[in-house]
Amino acid sequence: MIPGQAPKSTARPRTVIFGNSKGGVGKSTLALLMALGLATRHRDASVKLIDLDPQATSSNSLQRFCDQRFSVVQGSSLRCDDGSPNNEKILKHINTERLNNFKRRFVVLDGAAGHQPDNSAFLHHCDIMLIPTSVSDADIYATRSYISGLHALFSIRGNRQRAAGPALVILPNLVDSRDEFNELRHALSKERAYLGKPLYYSPAFRRAFREQRNDENIRIIFNQTQPYTLWLTSLVTQSHRLDKKPEKLFQL
Ligand SMILES: Nc1ncnc2c1ncn2[C@@H]1O[C@H](COP(=O)(O)OP(=O)(O)OP(=O)(O)O)[C@@H](O)[C@H]1O
Ligand SMILES: [Mg+2]
Repeated sequence: MIPGQAPKSTARPRTVIFGNSKGGVGKSTLALLMALGLATRHRDASVKLIDLDPQATSSNSLQRFCDQRFSVVQGSSLRCDDGSPNNEKILKHINTERLNNFKRRFVVLDGAAGHQPDNSAFLHHCDIMLIPTSVSDADIYATRSYISGLHALFSIRGNRQRAAGPALVILPNLVDSRDEFNELRHALSKERAYLGKPLYYSPAFRRAFREQRNDENIRIIFNQTQPYTLWLTSLVTQSHRLDKKPEKLFQL
């Protein structure tokens, strides 16, 4: 090590990815909520958001919060020339930290629309995968096929020595009533995954990514969603408690 230079941390972080091949289901909104939620709840931890979406919605918005403890990674180097994820680069960002001053590390990945699990070996290194969806038919069909792609990926690489991929948790989003949540639960009842708590539709989320004086928009969202954000961040800190493969949909 060069004298005077801080050692790079290689301690394994708790890693969560928001993924769904379907666009507009709330991946970036929930990634923003998760990254800020973890950073405010765990002051002894560093939080890194890795934005895999070329649109860079969450990373552009979170850039203003960056400091020694909170960082954002984005850019074309995270993708190969054909647009598929650059597994090696992503893993490097997951595994290394500029400073190792912190007791714990969290990594939050914001996935891109159109993501295909079969070219994403980095997913094996995630602890938990959160899959937002709404109750619309288009979103449900896409979510089913995405989950089936994930199971295919994890069954190829899974063996007795190695955990077979991260726990999968479907996150119902943009829900407008309990009935709608029940409808979604019924439509996904055969999926081998966990089902999370519903996040209800709120106009406040439409302002999640803008930069406002005093971060009034963020404050409103956090006030409105306090119990949900607490639950969401606990999913990551408690991810080791989730048995990796429920036989059918298992409601948390
Ligand atoms: N619970 C909610 N209530 C109201 N609006 C929401 C909610 N969740 C997300 N939205 C809005 O839905 C839109 C899509 O959300 P978001 O950008 O997070 O989806 P995404 O899955 O990241 O999309 P993409 O695949 O294009 O990256 C945004 O305008 C966002 O503000
Ligand atoms: Mg997005």
